[in-house]
Amino acid sequence: MKKYPLFIDLDNRRTPIIGGGVAALRKARLVAAAGARPVFIWPDIDPEIEREFGDAAEYIDCRPAAADLAGARIVFVAVEDGDDPARWAELAKTAGALVNVVDRPALCDFTTPSIIDRGALVIAISTDGAGPVFGRDLRARIEAMLPARIGALLDFAAGYRDAVKAKIGEGGRRAFWERFFKGPVAAKALAGDEAGAREAMIETLNRPQDAPGPGVVHIVGAGPGDPDLLTLKAFRLIQQADVILYDRLVSNEILNLARRDADRVYVGKAKADHAVPQEDIEARMIAFAREGKMVVRLKGGDPFVFGRGGEELEAVRAAGIAAAVTPGVTAATGCAAAAGMALTHRDAAQSVTFVTGHAKGDAEPDLDWGALAALKNTLVVYMGVGKAAAIAGNLIRCGRSASTPVAVIENGTRPEQIIVKGALGELPALIGRAGVKGPALLVIGEVAAMADGDTLSQLLEKERLVA
Ligand SMILES: C[S@@+](CC[C@H](N)C(=O)[O-])C[C@H]1O[C@@H](n2cnc3c(N)ncnc32)[C@H](O)[C@@H]1O
Repeated sequence: MKKYPLFIDLDNRRTPIIGGGVAALRKARLVAAAGARPVFIWPDIDPEIEREFGDAAEYIDCRPAAADLAGARIVFVAVEDGDDPARWAELAKTAGALVNVVDRPALCDFTTPSIIDRGALVIAISTDGAGPVFGRDLRARIEAMLPARIGALLDFAAGYRDAVKAKIGEGGRRAFWERFFKGPVAAKALAGDEAGAREAMIETLNRPQDAPGPGVVHIVGAGPGDPDLLTLKAFRLIQQADVILYDRLVSNEILNLARRDADRVYVGKAKADHAVPQEDIEARMIAFAREGKMVVRLKGGDPFVFGRGGEELEAVRAAGIAAAVTPGVTAATGCAAAAGMALTHRDAAQSVTFVTGHAKGDAEPDLDWGALAALKNTLVVYMGVGKAAAIAGNLIRCGRSASTPVAVIENGTRPEQIIVKGALGELPALIGRAGVKGPALLVIGEVAAMADGDTLSQLLEKERLVA
């Protein structure tokens, strides 16, 4: 370790900053975030500084004298090289303060780290000047790992420290706090439900500690496949989970983000081949949570778009288990982005409708074809590949033109993505020629003409060239 890190209490402390320019302003922002009262000392203080800080700072518009620095714990020197920073550093040291001189490491008693500030949680990163860019990159990565409300959660926990001490013997406290940070109380506090968190905390404290109580179920959207499309929250929850129940459409790259010791339970369904009945999935989520586990139910796309996430949420809540939902990028928006095709476009469609083309056995999807054909908007059909001929036929029968553009996106956002486009009348031929099996979306409407994909004739030409 090249320098020893410290956290200094500057709350309400006068903190001299020698200088009046941008560098001084930056240092002032840093210390003001920790509650310090910046004191700008320099003949020439930028009026912007006064505008920003107003009464929250002091302004001494002359060169510093020893008396200006008396009692300061730290002093910043932020003046140009020609303004003799060494002299002011010496003055501050003589006044007994630790000194930081901007851009002059040799004159510094301390350096300022890259800071992650989440209230009670402060993380400081230093590379001792060796790799500031790396330090900033690391900071961004750590920021992404931390829930936005982590500071509020820590404050909440601090408020119960004495109560926990009084209720739980020393031997059980560590386990208690471990469960706390992954359990329902923390989930509620992190979601901003302060009242719910308090209620759950009181209930947890009053429960005998040999019966630690249920965990929590997070119903999480994994997006359409590309791991970079996960939300930050989904990413964090996947990394924390004790057990992950996942569907067929959740990609391996995403599952590999899980802890190595987390249980991964496949509960996926292939069409007409329900690997695990829905009630069993719900029962398993509830059973794992009752063991006190943090359960992540990971679903492709968004859990509330054709994902039975609503049913799962109801079932878990009905069992008295805390549950929360984290949305995901749904296949329609993911595929549209991947195909460079806006789902609404001022010139082509003012609205978009999501429907499911799923139907049992040979039956046709039970949709109001007349209404869908009349809308003349963008129609996105999930699970529609198997019934594409019926879908196209019904829309045309009800008045949608056979020349309406369509796009078919299979495995959108994944490396194996296929995009083809053509006219509604040739939809089955397009699907057959491209060998689309799914998961795929059908996008019907004028916007589909804008998709980056092969047309039927381009597909045929490619086949000819290969042959
Ligand atoms: C049971 S639904 C689940 C939808 C999911 N909840 C969502 O919001 O995307 C499954 C259907 O979503 C569509 N789908 C999911 N991921 C896809 C992808 N990467 N590319 C194309 N379609 C996809 C397909 O129509 C698939 O049959």
